[in-house]
Amino acid sequence: MKSSIRALAELVLKNIDVLEADCAKRGVQEPSLLDPYEPGSEFTVDDGNVQRASTIIVAAAQQLIQTVQSPQTNLLMTAYSTTLSGAIRVATEFNIADILYEAGSKGLHVKEISSACKADPIKISQILRLLASGWIFKEVKPDVFANNRNSSIMVKGIPVKKLFDAPELKYSKPEGATPALLADIGDNTVKGSSYLYEALSDPKTAFSGEANEAALCRALNTNLACWDFFELPEQRERLNRFGVAMQGMSKLEPLDVTTKGFDWEGLKKDSLVVDVGGGIGSFSLALAKEHPHLKFVVQDRGPVVEDGLERLKVLHPEELNSGRISFQEHNFFDSQPIANADVYMLKFIIHDWSNKYSEIILCRLREAAGPHSRLVIVDKVIPYICSPSESNDEFSIPGILKPDLPAPIVNMSGGITYPHLSSVVMMLYCNGQERTHDAFGQYSSQILATPI
Ligand SMILES: C[S@@+](CC[C@H](N)C(=O)[O-])C[C@H]1O[C@@H](n2cnc3c(N)ncnc32)[C@H](O)[C@@H]1O
Repeated sequence: MKSSIRALAELVLKNIDVLEADCAKRGVQEPSLLDPYEPGSEFTVDDGNVQRASTIIVAAAQQLIQTVQSPQTNLLMTAYSTTLSGAIRVATEFNIADILYEAGSKGLHVKEISSACKADPIKISQILRLLASGWIFKEVKPDVFANNRNSSIMVKGIPVKKLFDAPELKYSKPEGATPALLADIGDNTVKGSSYLYEALSDPKTAFSGEANEAALCRALNTNLACWDFFELPEQRERLNRFGVAMQGMSKLEPLDVTTKGFDWEGLKKDSLVVDVGGGIGSFSLALAKEHPHLKFVVQDRGPVVEDGLERLKVLHPEELNSGRISFQEHNFFDSQPIANADVYMLKFIIHDWSNKYSEIILCRLREAAGPHSRLVIVDKVIPYICSPSESNDEFSIPGILKPDLPAPIVNMSGGITYPHLSSVVMMLYCNGQERTHDAFGQYSSQILATPI
């Protein structure tokens, strides 16, 4: 009988055929990890067969690694991955990918890299070698490092001299979105993760749905919810970076799902979309570009709205001048000031809050809604890891993607995926959660039954 490791390897090979055919069709070589990233070098994103083939390859290859390596190695390497997050943050905040971008393909000796970022070359060489072992940067000669496909994503699009002279502008270009997210992960997510156990085991916070009792608040030694903490004058940098990081987050999901996931085109001209908790307006901006017949009001907390307005003025003045996007300070726990809007949109909001607080946010919108207002919630629906045949179908949502990976793959998420990570990240930030489709179903029946 064929071994499961051979079956996994064959699954990889069979699906490689699909990816090679995709390259042949486009007349390109497969992407190389050694070269900096070129936009468009991914396998075709809007071809379902190509995407399924790459999902199966990733799932089968990861299961193969987990099967071949000892459980000790699997577990310890995974547990140690927060060290990688810390190292990535160092590389991002010290602008190392930017320094290497200016150095070109021959790379730069670690002494020169460290001198540019005023750091210890002995320490920086360890950081870079760890990252290069994880395919982030490459060591082209002993102690000489250069960018590769993965590290080149950290280039912020700003000259190195300016990055060091005016660090407050570090994440001001659109290319800064992913580096901002990486720095935020290496800072807040790592700090919060290290206090998860304390938050979940302390009887005072173990069952709490309060945002200011989350693990990150413990880590930052504050009684404030992260939103309030980030707005303290001395946390200005964190606030600004978080706003931009939200844009980086959207790169982890196909833009089409959100810009085409609702019939925006079907709305009449000048329909008003209220982007509740819309951050610095990144999603409204993307929608406005795709659907120029719509108008948007982005609502958020005062300092976030200020940041969004400043950014839009500099990066997209035409959108601002057209009057199609405007900003409004609004606390979504208070009465909604815009009644009878065509659409109220909550993108990545409900996942920040426990059921108690999500319900208040939704009730405020229901009070303001007119008979034709629509509610659009953009959030992840997290899949179970077990086989679809084991899960309850009672609350199935039309269009929902059921995980379905071929045997001998046993993990239906195909490995650690962003939605599962995000759920725990929401918990450690603010006692929120990503919800399964069952949890959404039970929750929405409960909300619909709640009198206002
Ligand atoms: C996860 S971010 C999502 C931002 C945006 N919707 C997006 O997808 O990029 C959550 C947003 O909720 C905002 N927020 C938190 N508490 C709020 C409140 N009470 N009223 C309004 N906005 C709030 C935060 O400032 C932040 O911009």
